[in-house]
Amino acid sequence: MEMTVDLGEKSYPIYIENGILKDAKSYVEKVYTGRRIMIISDDHVYPIYGETLRANLAGEYECHHYVVPHGELSKNFQVLPGIYSAMLEAKITRSDLIIALGGGVIGDLVGFAASSYLRGIPFIQIPTSLLAQVDSSVGGKVAVDLPQGKNLVGAFYQPKLVLIDPTVLATLPEKFINDGMGEVIKYGCIFDEALFDTLLAAGSFEGLKPSLEEIIYKCVDYKRIVVEEDQFDFGRRILLNFGHTLAHTIEQHFHYERESHGEAVAIGMYQISKLAEKKGLTQEGTAERIRAILESYHLPIRCGLPIEELLGAIHLDKKNLDGHLKVVLLRKMGDSYVYETDHSFFADAEGSL
Ligand SMILES: NC(=O)c1ccc[n+]([C@@H]2O[C@H](COP(=O)([O-])OP(=O)(O)OC[C@H]3O[C@@H](n4cnc5c(N)ncnc54)[C@H](O)[C@@H]3O)[C@@H](O)[C@H]2O)c1
Repeated sequence: MEMTVDLGEKSYPIYIENGILKDAKSYVEKVYTGRRIMIISDDHVYPIYGETLRANLAGEYECHHYVVPHGELSKNFQVLPGIYSAMLEAKITRSDLIIALGGGVIGDLVGFAASSYLRGIPFIQIPTSLLAQVDSSVGGKVAVDLPQGKNLVGAFYQPKLVLIDPTVLATLPEKFINDGMGEVIKYGCIFDEALFDTLLAAGSFEGLKPSLEEIIYKCVDYKRIVVEEDQFDFGRRILLNFGHTLAHTIEQHFHYERESHGEAVAIGMYQISKLAEKKGLTQEGTAERIRAILESYHLPIRCGLPIEELLGAIHLDKKNLDGHLKVVLLRKMGDSYVYETDHSFFADAEGSL
C-alpha cells in the first residue's frame, strides 16, 4: 500500500507492506541516487533488524551504521555530538543519506540530527514500533529533550521516504504494543467511528493481526491529511491532542516514571469524555464505549490522582497561560472538535480521576 504526503517540494511517499524491510533497497533507490548511507538505530532494534537492512542495501550502497542505547534517555541533546562524529568519520556529506531505523525515539533523534548536520541532509524513516508506524514517523516533527523538558530543541524536517513493515511488530514488547494501540484508538475516536468499531470488535492486538496493514494505513492516512492541512501545527493538527491535556498533567505529576504516554493519553481520553458528557458537550454513552475499548486493549482509564492536585498542575502548565485552555472533545464517536475553555472545565470532576 502506498500514499504520498503532499507538501509541495517537500512531498514524500509512504509504503506500508508486510516484509518490506527485506526489500528496502528497491524503495530507497526510487528517492536516492547517491552511494553512501548511514543507518542509525538503537541497541534493541539494530541486533534484530539492522543486518537484514544492511545486507539488502550493501550490494548497491556503501553502508555505515551507528547504534545508541534504547529508550527516551537517548533522545537527548548530549547524544547528538556522538552521532555527528560518527557521520563525520564515515565522511557523510550533504549528498549522502541517513536512515532512522527504530521507534519514535530514534525517529525524533535521528531526524533532528539529519536536520542539523551540515545544515540538513536527507533522511528516511523506517519506524519499528507501533507508535512510530502510526504517528511519529509521519509529519516531520523531529526533536531532542533537554534536562528542563521533552522536545525542547527540534525542527520541522520531512523525511524523503517512510517504509512501514508491520511484521517487525512481532518482536515489539507488549507494553509498547499497548502504548501504540492508545494512538490507534485515538484515531478512531477523533476521525472514524467505523475504525473504532473494527478495533472494538477485534478486541485485542492479536485479533487485529490479519488486518494490521489496513489499520496502519488508515491511521497514517489520517495523520497525512492533518499534516497536509497544518504542517506547522497552528490549526487542525491540534485534534491529534485528544486526551493530551490530562495526559501531560499526569505524566508531569509522576515525572514520566509511572504511566507511559499511551497510558496517560488513554486515561485522558476517557476522563475528558466523561466530563464532557456530563456538561452536554459529548453524546451520551461515548465515554462508556471508550472505557470498554481501552480495557480490552489493556489500557488504564484512571490514575487515582485527586482532582485538586490535577487542577493545580493544569493551572501551572505553561501551555495554559492566562487560564485559557483549548481542549479537544468528541461531539460523538469519530467526530472531534476544539472547545475553548479555562481550567475550571475540570472543576466539575469529582473525587479522583
Ligand atoms: N515526532 C512526533 O510527531 C512524535 C509523535 C509521538 C511521539 N513521539 C515521540 O516518540 C517517542 C516514543 O516512541 P516509542 O514509543 O516508539 O519509543 P521507543 O523508540 O523508545 O521504542 C520503544 C521500545 O521498543 C523497542 N523497539 C522498537 N521497535 C522494536 C521492534 N520492532 N522489536 C523490538 N523492540 C523494538 C525500542 O528499542 C524501545 O526499547 C517519544 O520520545 C515521543 O516524544 C514523537
